[in-house]
Amino acid sequence: NAPARDRLRIAIQKNGRLAEPARSLLTACGLSWRQSRDKLFCYGESLPVDLLLVRDDDIPGLIADGVCDFGIVGRNELDEQGAARRRIGLPDAYQALRGLNFGQCRLMLAVPDEWEWTGVEQLAGKRIATSYPAILADWLAARGVDAQVVELSGSVEIAPRLGTADLICDLVSSGATLAANQLKPVETLLESEAVLAGPVKTPDDARAGLMAMLLRRLDGVVKVQD
Ligand code: PRP
Ligand code: ZN
Ligand code: MG
Repeated sequence: NAPARDRLRIAIQKNGRLAEPARSLLTACGLSWRQSRDKLFCYGESLPVDLLLVRDDDIPGLIADGVCDFGIVGRNELDEQGAARRRIGLPDAYQALRGLNFGQCRLMLAVPDEWEWTGVEQLAGKRIATSYPAILADWLAARGVDAQVVELSGSVEIAPRLGTADLICDLVSSGATLAANQLKPVETLLESEAVLAGPVKTPDDARAGLMAMLLRRLDGVVKVQD
């Protein structure tokens, strides 16, 4: 079991779409930090709640390992890593506790503009590039479609033009990336937004009270926002 701690640690994205809104939300909850020089770790001043600035992909793992108590991350990332764990028989290690009303996007299948989309049967034997291989594999399996999943960590939208895949499965927000790459969205796998993620089991030390208090404040703030 992880050692007892009396300070809370929250992981948020260092750079990227969720970084600023996540920080503002926590500030609105009354948190403030003393800036450390490298800024990867921010020491909590108003409350014993510290911030860890990391890559969004690392947030689910940090919660699973008990390094962080909460994280603000896209539901897409949380679901992908949860699905990947389940596929290899690992137990659930984190959960989405609250939707946060920002970072809305969809995980979608997108095909070259010239395709005439008739339905999922069309995917048989096709190669699909994605950074979400577990969600995609589950989705295909649930529909009995036999397609090849090509995992790419970035620049997924260029794969069809390079000939390394026939179509893609990627996040769509404004749709500008798809349009710029002559792709069109055809199926939605997941509606995503930023969530507050936490452990499956609350730690039984001083952090439990801090976590409950932060959730109460968050509920007040998120409600006021929409
Ligand atoms: C996502 C996705 C697309 C883009 C879509 O990438 O992979 O590239 O956003 O957004 P749009 O519909 O508004 O054009 P993100 O910016 O999250 O960065 P990443 O690909 O580096 O993870
Ligand atoms: Zn990422
Ligand atoms: Mg991208």
